This record gives sequence, C-alpha cells and structure tokens, in this order.
Amino acid sequence: MTIRWSAEAIWEAVAPLLPGFTVEILPEIDSTNSELMRRARAGQMEPTLLVAERQTAGRGRLGRDWQSDTDAGLATLTFSLGLPLAPKDWSGLSLAVGLVVVQSLHPALRLKWPNDVWLDERKLAGILIETTSVGELRYAVIGIGINLLPRAADGLRTPPAALAEVLPGANAPSTLEAIALPLVRAVLDFETQGFGDLRTAFHARDLLYGREVSCTDGSTGSARGVDASGALLLHTASGLQKISSAEVSVRPAAAPTPT
Ligand code: BTN
Repeated sequence: MTIRWSAEAIWEAVAPLLPGFTVEILPEIDSTNSELMRRARAGQMEPTLLVAERQTAGRGRLGRDWQSDTDAGLATLTFSLGLPLAPKDWSGLSLAVGLVVVQSLHPALRLKWPNDVWLDERKLAGILIETTSVGELRYAVIGIGINLLPRAADGLRTPPAALAEVLPGANAPSTLEAIALPLVRAVLDFETQGFGDLRTAFHARDLLYGREVSCTDGSTGSARGVDASGALLLHTASGLQKISSAEVSVRPAAAPTPT
C-alpha cells in the first residue's frame, strides 16, 4: 500500500528554522537512528528528518530492540531527527522531547520518566536519543517510535497502547505532520533555554507524580516530579533523593490490610 506522506509541507514549515534541512522517507532501513549516526560519523551533519516505513533492526534504549509491525509502516510511525546541537547543558533533552510528543498528539498521553509516552498504563511511544561528536560539532539523533494501531504483545508483558485508541483514524503521515514542527521548535528552544522552564509542563503530564515507584538502582519511594535538570525526585524513607539515570517501574498498590 502506498503511504502519502506530506514531506513537502513539513519541509516548508521547518526549513526556515533549520537552514539546510531535508526530509527523507525510506521504504525500509535497519534503523533511522543507526542511519543518521552512520551519516554523521561520515561527516554528513545536515539537519535531517528521516522516516522509515519499515525498520528491520529498530533499536530502543538500553540496548533493547524496538519492534515495529511488519506491515509496511501502517501500524507504527518510526522516524529520527538529526541535527547539530550545542546546548550549554544536555540534561533534560529527552524529557523536553517526550513532552513535545505528548503535547503535540493528545491530552490523554502521559510521560513515564525519563521519556516513555504512556496511555492508560501502557507504553505508546519510545524515544531514543544518541549523539556523536565530529570535530567541534556534536550531532544529536532523536529517534521516535509511535504505535498507531493496536498490535500483539510480541513478548512484552502487556500489549502496547496505540494512538488510534484516542485518535481514531490516526495514521503515520498525519502523526508525523503533527509532531515535526513542534519537535524542531522544542529542540531549538532547549538548545538556548535548557529544560528548567519546562518543569511545570512536565509535571502536568507526569504519569508517576505521587505514585510509589521502584528504580533499578534499588531506590523506592513516592515520585515527586523532576528537578530543573530533569532528574527524578523521589521521596524515600531517608529523604528526598535525586535519580539521574535508572529505569523506573510503578509499584502495584499495596493490598488492603485484612481487618
Ligand atoms: C525505547 O522505548 O526504548 C526507545 C524506542 C525508540 C524507537 C525509535 S523508532 C525510530 C528510531 N530508530 C530506532 O532504531 N529507534 C528509534
């Protein structure tokens, strides 16, 4: 099936903000992140939005796979934005990206720290940010995968959520068009202003706020949002702790004590 992408409209909206910007749609690639990282390492550092209708080796955070459906991009949107970036402080970039994804798509979407997008207690989208330095410049590759249509659990504990649950008719081109310009704006704003000013907006979409969570570093406590650098704040038995890197899971509510 031919997918009608609005590459030209996206290019026209984004190019004034990003000189040299290109939009590229590929029928198939191993991973849009891997491709932009390879290009950057080979010296191709132009700002690029690379979309794949199908990824054969999609990658997730922490070395995990990112599985798309195999049905030629109908059920999943997979793309990466690559651009040279020079913020004073990189901390919080992934939160800023997660925030613009939920804000661009639907009010029901929430962020699970650091940057997973969830709907109704299930993951809907994932973000993988990688960077490489070439000479003086650092090139950032921001990869986003969004489930559009319901699909099988594929070995995951729970089947992922799908955007069509809240936006019937959601498809890959319309979803990309909704995100592309806000994403570029958010990344450029992050470059000049950092994450700090986005805290309140993050808290409004924070899935974990006030919930009991466990972190892979062993800490447990009640989530209290994030600080100005994007670190997770955790209210623990020994006081407020800052978690800068860990995986977090929500702890099931304690069973009621028998009377
Ligand atoms: C995660 O949830 O662990 C992050 C998933 C990121 C998936 C996207 S799909 C487009 C881009 N290319 C990849 O190989 N990964 C990212």
